[in-house]
Amino acid sequence: MADLYAVIGNPVVHSKSPLIHLEFSRQTGQDIGYEALPAPEDAFTAAVAGFRQRGGKGMNVTVPFKLEACKISSHLTERASAAQAVNTLSFNTREIFGDNTDGVGLVRDITVNREFSLGAKRILLMGAGGAARGVLLPLLEREPRVLTIANRTRQKAAELQQQFSRYGNIVSGDYADLKGEEFDLIINATSASLKGELPTLPPGIFAARSMAYDMMYGNEYNLFLQHAERQGAMRLANGTGMLVEQAAESFFVWRGIRPKTAPVIEMLRKIGG
Ligand code: ATR
Repeated sequence: MADLYAVIGNPVVHSKSPLIHLEFSRQTGQDIGYEALPAPEDAFTAAVAGFRQRGGKGMNVTVPFKLEACKISSHLTERASAAQAVNTLSFNTREIFGDNTDGVGLVRDITVNREFSLGAKRILLMGAGGAARGVLLPLLEREPRVLTIANRTRQKAAELQQQFSRYGNIVSGDYADLKGEEFDLIINATSASLKGELPTLPPGIFAARSMAYDMMYGNEYNLFLQHAERQGAMRLANGTGMLVEQAAESFFVWRGIRPKTAPVIEMLRKIGG
C-alpha cells in the first residue's frame, strides 16, 4: 500500500497541496497517497491521532493549526523551534517530528527561482505575526546587511527583534519609522490584503531594482504588489513559488528526494496561481 500523507487545516478544501504533492510523486516515481483533511478548530489532536491510526506517515499543517502542531511535536528542528510553528509533521510509531519549511521555501523561491541574492542586502519584512516569524531564521541565515521588521503594532516587531537578534542584524519599528529608507527586498507578511487593506508605507522605500514579494498565494496583483509597482519596483512576486518550494522541502523531509519545482510552479500559474 502507498505511504499516506495529508494536509490538515480549516478550511482546507481549496488547498493546492494535494495537487502539488501528487505531481511530485508522479515526477519522482514515489508511490504516495495525499489527501486534504479538514479538522474542526477544537479537534486538531484527535484528527492527527485518527490519521496516524490509519497509517498516515506525515502531514502538512496549515491555518489555523501551525502552533498546535508545534505543541504536539515530540522533536522540533531548529527552524521550527525558532518559528514556534510547524507546517510539516512526520510520524513513526511512537514519535512526532515537527519541522517548518515555509522560510526555506520563501528563500529558495527568491534566491534560486528568481536569482535574487540576499547577502549584504537591505530587507524589509512587513508584519510581525506567525507568517513573519516563520521566515525570519532562514532569511537571516543568508546574512543580509540589515533586516528591518516593520509592524502596525510596534511592540510585536520589537519582540521579534529581541528574539532573533542573535541570528543577525535586525532593526524594528512601525511603518512611519521607514521614512527616508530604501530597501532591496520588501516582503509583505501581513494579512492586510486579505481584508483589502494595505499598511501605510512612506514613499521612497521601493527603488527600481527592488523586489516586492507578497507571501500570500495567488491573486497575482494584490493591493501590495500594485502599490509597489506604482512606487517604481520593477520586480514583483506573489507566493506561488513559495507555496511550491515549501511543499518540495516537505517532500524532501519525508521522502529524501528533491522534486523539480519549476514545472509545478508553471502549472499553478496556468491554472490561476
Ligand atoms: P499571521 O499568522 O498570518 O501572520 P497574525 O499573527 O494575525 O497572522 O498577524 C497578522 C499580521 O498582519 C500582523 O503583523 C498584523 O499587524 P498587527 O500586529 O499590528 O495586528 C498585520 N496586519 C493585519 N491587518 C493589517 C492592516 N490592515 N494594516 C497593517 N497591518 C496589518
